[in-house]
Amino acid sequence: MIRIGALISGSGSNLAAVIRACEEGQIDGQVVFAGADNAAAAGLDHARNAGIHTFIVDYKEIIAAYRQSPEKIELPRDYDPHDVASKVAFLADNTPYERIKEFLLTRAVAEARMLADMAAYPFDLLILAGFMRNLTPYFIDRVNIDKDRPRIMNIHPALLPSFPGVDGYGDTFQYGCKVGGCTVHFIDYGEDSGPIIGQRSFDILPDDTIETVKKKGLSLEWELYPACIQLFAENRLQVVRRAYKRQGGGTFERMVVEILPSA
Ligand code: GRF
Repeated sequence: MIRIGALISGSGSNLAAVIRACEEGQIDGQVVFAGADNAAAAGLDHARNAGIHTFIVDYKEIIAAYRQSPEKIELPRDYDPHDVASKVAFLADNTPYERIKEFLLTRAVAEARMLADMAAYPFDLLILAGFMRNLTPYFIDRVNIDKDRPRIMNIHPALLPSFPGVDGYGDTFQYGCKVGGCTVHFIDYGEDSGPIIGQRSFDILPDDTIETVKKKGLSLEWELYPACIQLFAENRLQVVRRAYKRQGGGTFERMVVEILPSA
C-alpha cells in the first residue's frame, strides 16, 4: 500500500478519481493529504468528504506580501538561490531579472510552507492533479531525495511533448489537431518536460468543440492517472538514462520511463 499526497488548484476531478480508485482497490494505496494553492479550490471538498487531511498555501497572498514589502521576506534557512537559479528550466531567457527574483523568492516561501505542511504526512508518491503552479528545484529536490527514483507525477491535458503549458486541450483544438490526448509524467526542472509514464488519445471529429474535446480528455484522465499510479505502487516504473543518435551526427541523452512486466 503506497501513501499518496496530492496538490490541486481547482475542481479536483482527478483527485476524486484517484480517491475512488483507492477505495475500489484499483490502486494499492491511500491518499494521505490534499494541498491547494488557493482556498477556493473546490476539489478540496473531495478530500474533506473522504476524511483526508487538507491544507492551503495561499500563493497569491505570499506574492502580494512580497510586492508590498520585499525586504520583509523570510526565506527558508536552507534556501540556496544560486543552486535553484542554475537548475530551473522553465523561465524564458528574456524574463527580466526582477521578475525572476520575485518569482523564485516567493516560490521558495510558498514551497517551504507546503513542505512543512506535508511533513506530518509521510508519502511515497506526490501527485499533481490540476496544480497550476510550476514547482521549482527547491521543492523538487526536497521530495526527490533519491535522484534516480523521481516521485512527483503530473497529469497534462495534451499529448506531450506537444502543447506544454496551461491550456493543453485548447491548444490542441485550436491547432486543428485530429487527435488529442493526455499524458502522465514525472516532473523534472522544466515545464511539462519530464519522463513520460503513460498517454491516452482520442479522435477529434469535425463536430467537436473545445468543450467536447475537454470532456473527452478529462474522462480519459480519470482512467489514465489511477493506472499510472498503480504501476508506481507495483514498483514497475524504472527511470533510465538512454543515449540516442542524433540525425545528422552526434548523440543525445534523455531520461525515459521503462515499464517493467508485472511480477
Ligand atoms: C486537468 O485537465 C489536468 O490535466 C490539468 O488540469 C485539469 C485539472 O482538472 N493539469 P481537475 O482539477 O482534476 O478537475
